[in-house]
Amino acid sequence: MDNQDEYLLNFRGYNFEKTLVKMNIVENMDDQEIRDDDVFIVTYPKSGTIWTQQILSLIYFEGHRNNTENIQTIDRAPFFEYNNHNVDFAKIPSPRIFSTHLPYYLVPKVFKNKKVKILYIYRNPKDVLTSYFHYSNLMVILEASNTIETFMQTFLDGRVVGSNWFDHIRGWYEHRHDFNIMFMSYEDMKKDLRGSVLKICSFLEKELSEEDMDAVVRQATFQNMKSDPRANYDYNQKVKNWTRNNQGTFLRKGTVGDWKHHLTVDQNERFDRIFNRNMKNIPLKFIWDINE
Ligand code: A3P
Repeated sequence: MDNQDEYLLNFRGYNFEKTLVKMNIVENMDDQEIRDDDVFIVTYPKSGTIWTQQILSLIYFEGHRNNTENIQTIDRAPFFEYNNHNVDFAKIPSPRIFSTHLPYYLVPKVFKNKKVKILYIYRNPKDVLTSYFHYSNLMVILEASNTIETFMQTFLDGRVVGSNWFDHIRGWYEHRHDFNIMFMSYEDMKKDLRGSVLKICSFLEKELSEEDMDAVVRQATFQNMKSDPRANYDYNQKVKNWTRNNQGTFLRKGTVGDWKHHLTVDQNERFDRIFNRNMKNIPLKFIWDINE
C-alpha cells in the first residue's frame, strides 16, 4: 500500500480517494456479502455515474419514480468501496444497487459466477478528462491543477482516483466474458435517453409501463437532475463543504464534445495518438461530437 500521496491511496496498483475509501471493504473484498440479484454500476470517474444511479433507482423503485421517497441519489445506489454515508449494506433489501469505480481485478470473486448484473458506463475520454479537470479543481478531496495541460499529464499517467482510464476500460472489456456485463456509452444515453433506458431495462429484465418509462426519462434528464438537490450533490457541497470555492457544480454541462472548448489542436493530436495506441483491438464505439 502506498500512502505517500496526499489525495490518493494506492492498493494493488489502483488509486482510491484516500479520505473516503473504506479499507475494511477493499482489503476483504471476497468476504463481502454479495447477493445474486445485486446490480453494480461500474464506471471510471466522471463518466455518468450519478446519472446511471438516478436511472437505475427510478427503474427499480416506484417510490423514486413518484417522488414519495426523499433519498439522495448517491444513497439509492451507494458506492461499494467508499460507502460515503456508512450504510449497513446487509440491511438494504434486495434488489440492491451499488456503484463502483473498481477495476475488474479488484471486485469480489463471486462476480465470476455471472449472477450479479454489471452495467459498465463509459464516456469518450476527452470529455472525461475535461469533466475531471473541472471536478478536481472544485473538490477539496482531489488535487487541483492550474492548467488542462498539467491535468492531462496527470490523467494520462493515471495519477488520479480511478488510475489510468485506458487500463480501466480495457481491463473490463477484455475480461467481459468472465462477468454478466453490459457496456453502454454516456453519449448513447445522451443521444437517445429513452432508447437507452429501454436497453438497460432489458438487461435488468425489468418491464416498465409506458407511464413509468416516461417518469424515468423525465427525471433523468440533465435539466431535471440539475434542479433536483437530491440528484446534484447540492447537499454535499453546502453542508459538508466539499468544494473549494462554491463556484462550480457537480452537474456541470452534461454535454458531448465540451473537450473541444478546452484542448488545443496539439493536445488533441497527442491524445489521439495515445488513444489509438491503447485502444487497438477494443471495438467499443466512441462518440466525440453530439452531431456524429
Ligand atoms: P460534466 O462535468 O461534463 O458536466 P460522474 O457522476 O461519473 O462523476 O459524472 C459526472 C458527469 O456526468 C458530469 O459531466 C455531469 O454533468 C454528467 N451528468 C450527470 N447527470 C447527467 C445527465 N442527467 N445527463 C447528462 N450528463 C449528466
